Parts: sequence; structure tokens; C-alpha cells
Amino acid sequence: MSKEKVVLAYSGGLDTSVCIKWLQNELGLDVIAMLGNVGQEHDGLEKIADKARSLGCIAVEVVDMTDEFADEYLTRAIAANAMYENKYPLLSALSRPLISAHLVDVAHKYGATCVAHGCTGKGNDQVRFETSIATLDPSLKVLAPVREWDLGMRPDEIAYAKAHGVPVAQSIEKPYSIDDNLWGRAIEAGVLEDPWNEPPADIWTMTVDPALAPDEAAYVEIGFTAGVPTSLDGERLSVAELVAKLNVIAGANGYGRIDMIENRYVGLKSRECYEVPAGLALIAAHKALEDLCLERDVLHYKLSLEQTWADQVYNGRWFSPLKEALDAFMADTQAALTGVVKLKFYKGSCVVVGRKSAAALYDQSLATYDNDDAFDQKAAKGFIDIQGLSLKTWATKKAEVASATAAAALKLDVVMGSAEPVLADAVNY
Ligand code: ARG
Repeated sequence: MSKEKVVLAYSGGLDTSVCIKWLQNELGLDVIAMLGNVGQEHDGLEKIADKARSLGCIAVEVVDMTDEFADEYLTRAIAANAMYENKYPLLSALSRPLISAHLVDVAHKYGATCVAHGCTGKGNDQVRFETSIATLDPSLKVLAPVREWDLGMRPDEIAYAKAHGVPVAQSIEKPYSIDDNLWGRAIEAGVLEDPWNEPPADIWTMTVDPALAPDEAAYVEIGFTAGVPTSLDGERLSVAELVAKLNVIAGANGYGRIDMIENRYVGLKSRECYEVPAGLALIAAHKALEDLCLERDVLHYKLSLEQTWADQVYNGRWFSPLKEALDAFMADTQAALTGVVKLKFYKGSCVVVGRKSAAALYDQSLATYDNDDAFDQKAAKGFIDIQGLSLKTWATKKAEVASATAAAALKLDVVMGSAEPVLADAVNY
């Protein structure tokens, strides 16, 4: 009888390498490794694929997801100005549904009944993988070896690795837990677990120390077409190329670091450090263009939906009907959002210093204080009187009641013993 098959999201690291052996030995499964390129740092995908083959995987699929990540995921995040808790641009949360979709495709290709990931039981990523997979193909079984196995602490895992021929690197002491992709890097654990500790310099790899950034400011112009960033300083680029280039420029100027306490979906607070140079800059630029072009009520309403969008994605609900309906709203608002935004980077800061669009609703003849003012200032009086009428009515009545109550209290003092009828007078207006 042939064995059941499982497709594992493989990174090449110790955890997912041990997962291969564990799935083979403890569950008796044939393992197919899927290696996704989402723009993360790596020292050769083919090298990692060879490692998976050497560990006995029956097949290895290397999938380049970078453009899909940029075009289908990052563009939607930009449209939604995606910031969980107003701070975290969702980098890990954005890659998980994409990787999940490819795991499901590979499972279908090989007739696998199971899909596996290497997440622990304490983080959000397990929720994102499993919820995405369950939404895309509810018949697939999801296995989470790291959550299940009794390898306990690191030394047990290393012993298991050695016993099963999994190569263990010399420098096994991994000081941090890191996840990265085209959008940026997430760094957690180690000394960062104490929220009082300043992040050590060595956690940052995409951004220079702002104090060491150039003394000269750097300007860039981001061109947007229907809300999608399409050019950098006039050069047309794919979204993935643009993000990669902007990461370098922003990072070289020390921009893009975040140090925060975050509420994980699984209920605990964690200390997280992120580097998201291009992502933060693009969202700032995109917001500036929206300020210029979106009608006021649309802009205000969109702000509240952006929070819901970020919560949905953070909580692993990328494929939910609510998130898709929100995408439709966002897409509708982006149609006219074509224009250019000028950014200035300087020693850790990024400031929007200019914006222009043929679709701008900003009208200088209305906004100006010069003589050629088209705004009818006299009309403001009628507008203010009527919009404030309900408040004026309320305030007048409040003052009447207050003075009637004061008068009644006075009477009460004077006519001792007749408290009741006098009070009733005062309140039954
Ligand atoms: N806290 C972030 C999130 O939930 C980042 C998780 C990064 N994962 C990691 N293994 N370091 O999206």
C-alpha cells in the first residue's frame, strides 16, 4: 500500500528539517517539501531544495511567489493602508495566506491528503496557515509537528536531529526568531523578550542606524496608478522591483524601524521589532495621495474599514468573505488615485513633502487666502447657523433648566417646609 502524502512548508532551517524526519518516522508519511520564495534572505533556494531531497523528501517544489506577493498581496495592503494596531504593516500576516494557497496547489498536484507547517503553538502564523488552508480546501488535514512533538526544549530537538541525520549547524544558538520577506523583517525573542531592553544593533539588517545615515537628505518620487505604486523617480517598475529598490533607499537613510508591544491573536502580548522601510514609506505616500484625491466622507469611512481589514488579515482571515468585500470597497476608492508623491528621507525620518494628481480634489482657488478667492465667505454664516441649530437649541434649554433649578433651590431655602411642591414646579417644565 502506498503511503499517504504530506506537503510541508519548508524553510531549510532546523525546525522544518526535523519536521521532515518526524513526519516520515512518527507518522509514516511521504513528504513533499515546498519552498516558497517571497523575497526573503536566503543563501540559495537550490541549496535548500537539495537539503530537503537529502532528507528523503519524495519531491521538492520551489515556487517563486515574489511577483504574486507584490501584485496580489502588497497592492491590497497598500490600498488598505494596512497597519495592525496602527503600527505593524502585517508583513508575516501577508505572506502566510499566499504560502498556504501554494501548499494547497502542491497538495492537489501530488494527491496529498495532508499539509504541514513548522509553526509553534504560541504564535499567529499557525492560525493564518490553518485558517487559510481550511478555507481553500476544507478536506485537507493540517499537521503542525512542532506543536505536537514531545521534543520539548531545543537540546531534545537537536538530539532528535542528530539521531535522524539532520545536519545541525555549528552556531546553533539562534538569538532571535526572524521572519522576513519582500515587505520587511520581523525580529522577536532572545533579549527582546524584556520590553525594557533597547534592541541591540545587530538585529537590524535592512536599515542603518539613523545616526550613521547620510547628512544629505534623499528625495524620491513615487508614481501611483489607480492606487498601485508603478514608478520610482519616473522609472516604471513592477511592484516587486519598486519595493526592493525603495527598501534600499529608505534603509540607507535609517528609515523603517518599529519597536512595539503587540496583541497577538492567541491572547498574549509580545514585543516585536520590525524593519519595513519601503512598506512604511509607500503607505505614507499612498495616504498623502488619498488625502489629496478622496472625497471627504469616503476618506473618513475608509479609515474605519482599514482597521477591520488589518484585523482580518492579522487574524488569518485573508480568504474570508468580509475581507474580500472590504477589498472591493478599497478597490472602488482607488480607481482615480493616480498621481505622484514626493518623499524626503533624512536620518531615520520619511516625510511627504509634495503631492500632485490630475484627480486632486484640492482646489487652490477655494483654499487660497489671496484676492482671487472663489470661496463665498459670507455664505459660511448661514451654514454655521443651521448646522449648529440643534446644539444652540439644546444649550438654550439647558441654561433655562439650570436657572429654574437654582431659583427653586432659593425658594426652598426661604419657604422652609414646602420643599415638595416647589421642587415639582422646578422640574415639571
Ligand atoms: N508578530 C508578527 C505577526 O504575528 C510577526 C511574526 C513573525 N514570525 C516569526 N516567526 N518571527 O505577524
